[in-house]
Amino acid sequence: MTPIRAVKGMNDVLPDQIGRWQRVEQAFARTMSLHGFREVRTPCVEITALFVRAIGEVTDVVEKEMYSFAHHGDELTLRPEGTAGAARAYIEHAVQSREPVTRWWYGGPMFRAERPQRGRYRQFSQLGAEIFGDEGPGCDAEMIDMLVGFLADLRVPGVEVLVNSLGGHETRARYRLALVEHLTPKASSLSPLSQRRLQTNPLRILDSKDERDQTAVREAPTLHDFLDAGDAAHFAALLAHLDAMGTPYVVDPRLVRGLDYYTRTLFEIKGAHEKLGAGSTLLGGGRYDGMVADLGGPSIAAIGFAAGLDRLLIASELDIPVAVVEALVAPLGAAAIGSALVLARDLRRAGISCDVGTRGSSLKSQLRRANALGARLVLIVGESELAEGSVQVKDLDSHTQDRLARDRVLPFVVERLSKVHRVDEARENAASPRENQERP
Ligand code: HAM
Repeated sequence: MTPIRAVKGMNDVLPDQIGRWQRVEQAFARTMSLHGFREVRTPCVEITALFVRAIGEVTDVVEKEMYSFAHHGDELTLRPEGTAGAARAYIEHAVQSREPVTRWWYGGPMFRAERPQRGRYRQFSQLGAEIFGDEGPGCDAEMIDMLVGFLADLRVPGVEVLVNSLGGHETRARYRLALVEHLTPKASSLSPLSQRRLQTNPLRILDSKDERDQTAVREAPTLHDFLDAGDAAHFAALLAHLDAMGTPYVVDPRLVRGLDYYTRTLFEIKGAHEKLGAGSTLLGGGRYDGMVADLGGPSIAAIGFAAGLDRLLIASELDIPVAVVEALVAPLGAAAIGSALVLARDLRRAGISCDVGTRGSSLKSQLRRANALGARLVLIVGESELAEGSVQVKDLDSHTQDRLARDRVLPFVVERLSKVHRVDEARENAASPRENQERP
C-alpha cells in the first residue's frame, strides 16, 4: 500500500529540530515581555469575509492563496496571517474600553497556498505583535529597534532594515493616479501580471521582481512626493527617533507590501540572503490606522509586524545544545530494572532529567543510547551493584567512573551536574518513597 504523505508545502518538525524552534520562540517571548506585550491566541479559522475586508480583495493572498471552504453554511478560511484575527478579537472584546494602549503578541501556524520553496511553505509559523491605540511615530521606532535587537539575539547575520511611508488613504489614492498615468504609456512593456495589476492594484507593480517592470518604474514618481504634511512629519519623526537610538535603517521609497491595509509607516527586515535565496524577507510590518474602523470597530490607530519563524530558523546562527536528558540510568539485566526505576524517580524529583534503559539491554548499547541522548552521566546498576546496594556513575565528559553507595548517589550527581537547588527536597523525597496505592 502506498504510504500517505504530508500535504505539499506543509512540513513535520521532528524532535531533533524542536530545540531550535523552542529556543527562538523563547527568545521572542522574552523580547515581548521585556517590551510589555501580552500573548493573545486567536483561532486558526475565521470567517472568510474578515480576511477579504482586512487584507483587501485585490491582493495575492485573498485572490489566490487562501484555504477557504464552506462548512454548514459558513464561509471559512484558514488564517493566512494574524493581524486580521487580532483586530477582530480586539473589537469583539471591546478592549479599547479597558485600556488606551494595547500590546499583543502571538505565534502560530498560518496557511497560504503559495508555490513551496526554501523558506516559503503552505503552512508556516509566524511570530508577530500588534499595538492598538498609539498613533505616534515613537512606537513605530521602538518596534523596529526591538526587532533589530531580537534578530541580534538570534545571531542573524546581514540584517537590513528597510523603511518607507505609504501615507494615508488619500495620499495613496493620489499617488495611485500618478503611477497609473506614468505607467499607462508603457503598459505593453510590462509583464502580463503587472499589466493586470495596472487596472487592479498598481502599487504592487513597484514590488515586482520582473526586469521589464523594474525598468518601467525606475523613473516613476515615488510615494514620498505625495505625502501630506501629517504623513511627512510622522515619517520624519520616525527617522529622527531611529537616529537617536542608533538603529540602522535604509529608506526605500519603493517599498510596498502585499497586504492592502497599510498606512504611513511600512518596514521590512531582510537577512542572510545567501541562505534564503530570493525570499529573504524575515519579517515585515507597518501601520494600519484604518483597519479597526474598517472592520466595524472604533477609530483606533495600530501598528504591527510578523516574522516568519521558519525563515528565522534558516537565518539564525545560534548553536542549540541538543541534550535530551542529563543522565541515563542503565540497569544490566531484568533483575536491576526495579531498582533503576526507583533511582530514576529520585533523580527526577531532584530536578535531573533522565531516561531509564527499561529494556535491560547490554551496557554497550545503553552507552550508545546515552550518547544519542546527549546524557552526561550513566548510572549503572548491575548484578554486583544490586547485591551490595551501590551504583556506578560514569561521567562521559570527564571519562571518570565512581562506585557509590546508593545513598551517596543523589548528592554526587546533583553536584556533578551543578544542580544545587532542590537537593534537600530530593533527599527528603528519596527517604520516604511514595506509598503504594491500593487499587480497588
Ligand atoms: P507578511 O509580510 O505577509 O505580513 O508576512 C510576514 C512574514 O511571514 C514574512 O516576512 C515571512 O517571513 C513570513 N511568511 C509569509 N509567507 C510565508 C510563507 N508562505 N512561508 C514562510 N514564511 C512566510 C503579515 O503577515 C502581516 N500580518 C504582518 C503585520 C502584522 N503587519 C502588521 N501587523
